[in-house]
Amino acid sequence: MATAGLLQGSFISFEGIDGAGKSTHIDGLAKAFRDQGRVVTLTREPGGTMLAEKLRALVLNDPMDAMTEAFLVFAARRDHLYQVIEPALAQGQVVLCDRFTDATFAYQGGGRGFDTGLLSVLERMVQSVVVGGEERVRQPDVTIWFDLPAEIAAQRLAGTRVPDKFEAQPVEFFRRVADGYRRRMLESPTRFARIDANQTREAVWLDVLVVLRLRGLLA
Ligand code: TYD
Repeated sequence: MATAGLLQGSFISFEGIDGAGKSTHIDGLAKAFRDQGRVVTLTREPGGTMLAEKLRALVLNDPMDAMTEAFLVFAARRDHLYQVIEPALAQGQVVLCDRFTDATFAYQGGGRGFDTGLLSVLERMVQSVVVGGEERVRQPDVTIWFDLPAEIAAQRLAGTRVPDKFEAQPVEFFRRVADGYRRRMLESPTRFARIDANQTREAVWLDVLVVLRLRGLLA
């Protein structure tokens, strides 16, 4: 019998407002998993495929209404999920994804005030996959949320680079985004792991390791 079905892929997403500091930890985790012999797909949203990266450039730079933004990020997600994430999980890989659908609920839903009921409908459609002959809605196995007060994130970002469309938003926007993440966590408390990102980088890293070890995802 083929062994491929026995391999367990892991899908881990990383969330937080701009400036919360997730990037270095995602890179560190890619190394940690590879050191343990796992094959890692390191990817991001919006993006992760040629088509989705084109959509990312539009979403991050071009002015548009919240509905257009929501449809574009979900279109990018569909392509990314089917072209990259599902094939990697089917091979038993670890998929580390810098943002996923919680960002849509936080940014388009919380930040821009778009209808979260409609986002939920799109979520179910776009993330519908067939695994082992059964249809399900794909979700990350765990979502690490780097929670940082909006004011501190703004201080961290100030002057570091040319801001994109979202990074240029005022601090109130990011308060609403953070509230959006909080609501998402309350809806999926087992999937979400909140980490206090208002600590030293070393302390945050230790918290990330604890979360993944407690869940049996990292040795
Ligand atoms: P980000 O992940 O912060 O990448 P970088 O560190 O390279 O800037 O940028 C992605 C931006 O896209 C971020 O501001 C959040 C936004 N975004 C949405 O508005 N909706 C979404 O569904 C996703 C995935 C991201």
